[in-house]
Amino acid sequence: MQEQAVFREKYNFVKFEVLRIKFLLGGRKETAERKNSDDVSIRETIGEILGELKIYALKPLKKLLLVSAVCGISSGIAPYLRMLYMGELPELLSGTTEAIVIFSIFMALSEINGYLWSVFFMYSGFFKSEMTDLYDNALQAKNYVEILHKPRALFVVNSVESMLSFAKEIFQYKRSVLNELLQCFREAITFVICTFSLFAIVPQLALFMVLLQLISMEFVLYNNKFFRTVDERFRLFSQKISRETGDVSGQASLVQSANKVEKESGRIYAKLMKSSALKRLKYCNRRIGEKSFYLVLEAVGAVAVCYVAIADIIKTGDIGRLALISGAAVQMKIRCETLLRSYLSIDEYKNKIADIRKRMQLPKVLERVTGNNRLSAADNFIRLENVSFAYPALKRLEDVGFLTEVKYGNTVLENVTLDVRAGGVTVVAGTSGQGKSTLMRIIRHDYDVQQGEVFIGTQNVCDLSDEEINRHIAFIGQNVRFFDTSVRRNLTYFSDVTDEKRIREVLDAAGLTEDIAHFEGGLDYKIGINGNKLSGGQRQRLALARTFLTNRPIVIMDEPTTGLDQVMSFQIMKALKELATDKTVLLVTHNPTEIALADRVLIIKGKHIVADGEPLNLIENTGFLKSAMTRQDILSKKELFVAHCRKTA
Ligand SMILES: Nc1ncnc2c1ncn2[C@@H]1O[C@H](COP(=O)(O)OP(=O)(O)O)[C@@H](O)[C@H]1O
Ligand SMILES: [Mg+2]
Repeated sequence: MQEQAVFREKYNFVKFEVLRIKFLLGGRKETAERKNSDDVSIRETIGEILGELKIYALKPLKKLLLVSAVCGISSGIAPYLRMLYMGELPELLSGTTEAIVIFSIFMALSEINGYLWSVFFMYSGFFKSEMTDLYDNALQAKNYVEILHKPRALFVVNSVESMLSFAKEIFQYKRSVLNELLQCFREAITFVICTFSLFAIVPQLALFMVLLQLISMEFVLYNNKFFRTVDERFRLFSQKISRETGDVSGQASLVQSANKVEKESGRIYAKLMKSSALKRLKYCNRRIGEKSFYLVLEAVGAVAVCYVAIADIIKTGDIGRLALISGAAVQMKIRCETLLRSYLSIDEYKNKIADIRKRMQLPKVLERVTGNNRLSAADNFIRLENVSFAYPALKRLEDVGFLTEVKYGNTVLENVTLDVRAGGVTVVAGTSGQGKSTLMRIIRHDYDVQQGEVFIGTQNVCDLSDEEINRHIAFIGQNVRFFDTSVRRNLTYFSDVTDEKRIREVLDAAGLTEDIAHFEGGLDYKIGINGNKLSGGQRQRLALARTFLTNRPIVIMDEPTTGLDQVMSFQIMKALKELATDKTVLLVTHNPTEIALADRVLIIKGKHIVADGEPLNLIENTGFLKSAMTRQDILSKKELFVAHCRKTA
């Protein structure tokens, strides 16, 4: 029960992240553009992070803030008290029991303070690892949605991996911001305590110190902006130079005269040296200025503190107050600097997040034509009319930052016309690289085809939204993803089925019943990260069971059964044949048993479907089948299959 609650909590977060990533992957363009513009403020970034925290991690955050506050208070008070104690030292040393008691109290306070700090670090460690888990789960969920339902091949190959790593980077920066925020919270409390302490003793000095800190903060912030602009200019400049030098060396093979290239490189190199030297000089001067100004500020502060403290000793005759005053003043300064550092880090993280988001913008070329038509249960057939397709030859993301142009590679499918309907399992076979997976991808509209039309039932895929196609087609590819949770949750993740009987049925159909019986906890057995506590075959069959459960009118499987033994293949084929009575079932496979038992076999070779029919009718004239099996093989497999079905009925 409790586990379910935890799962729901995580699931909500996962849903949230998936939606957000989906949106980043090209959801609403205008808002994405606005969000990614330069003028995201720190407040917006922090607001976003806090908003997310409120959704999925309020409880641990509250605890963490509490510990953080206690830490702030104790580290604000403890040094102050220690100073106080040291201030009284001469008197206490006269040997009263009071001295011993007070000394012990202060020692204890110090210890407690140290202890609280370690608790804080431990807590924030836990918190961070908890967040890491959540984020990882979210990424996994995204992967899972993409791959189980409809891998946009274009994204899968070129973008999704990069998107994921971008998203992960953003998460990391967000975590860092959070860390800094916690630190700020703690430091601010300490700062306030120290300021008040000093204010109570020498108000003028306290005011002066605050003023000094404000000046130095303002200065740092101003300078920081300057350095950032200079850094950015450096970056742009060196980019430009490397482009130019790149051009020159790229011409080396074309330009006959090597001299010319050398001369040209020399010119650009000189330009680089000259310009960057000037810039660096300006940069260094500014740095020297900054450091000097700092020194002056520090000196002024130190003089003020010394002056006030000495004046105080002369007035009161109490040496102890020197330690007290300087202690509080130094604490103030240190906390102030830490706060400023945190602010600068947050600012930097914020810019990095904005920068990554900018890079995540998808170029227009990745968009496909989609519409909002609806499919009905009767649209359970697939039709291709004179389809030709070549993959867009996209430059890899890393090379160009983002994709900018599309060219087309070699034609993979040419003038393919095809009609697949319910009432039998259709197997797609052929040697590797002939376009089987490609065919499956264009049926799911991962790509627009360059010629011809693809229909799901009565609808052209271009008139359907991705979601509509996802709802209608169940798909299993070679890389099936699972969650680190129970068999049951993995099965029901994307269907609303909770009926125990139905779950047992699909497990039976996928040949998993016996395996489950051996699992500790049965359906509640935890299958590990991406199902790593299952065997390869068990994973495949679990994926099949999950597909059976989704109950979609069209089922497409791209080599989900690689390496299953003959009995398992019988089992799966039996289930698929039952499924195929009212659904269209397309199975890409190399498995001879499955090919032999197919109701219809399509062989793809050299851009075309070269054979289409019952395996027994094709065996004589089809090279691919002939090399894999004989007529007798097919007959005997069919016979064994019938026996298997009778036995298990
Ligand atoms: N994402 C892609 N981008 C460019 N070319 C691809 C891509 N995927 C596959 N191809 C090419 O298309 C051809 C068919 O591949 P595929 O459909 O995966 O073959 P099969 O599934 O039959 O083994 C191959 O020549 C392959 O190199
Ligand atoms: Mg393939």
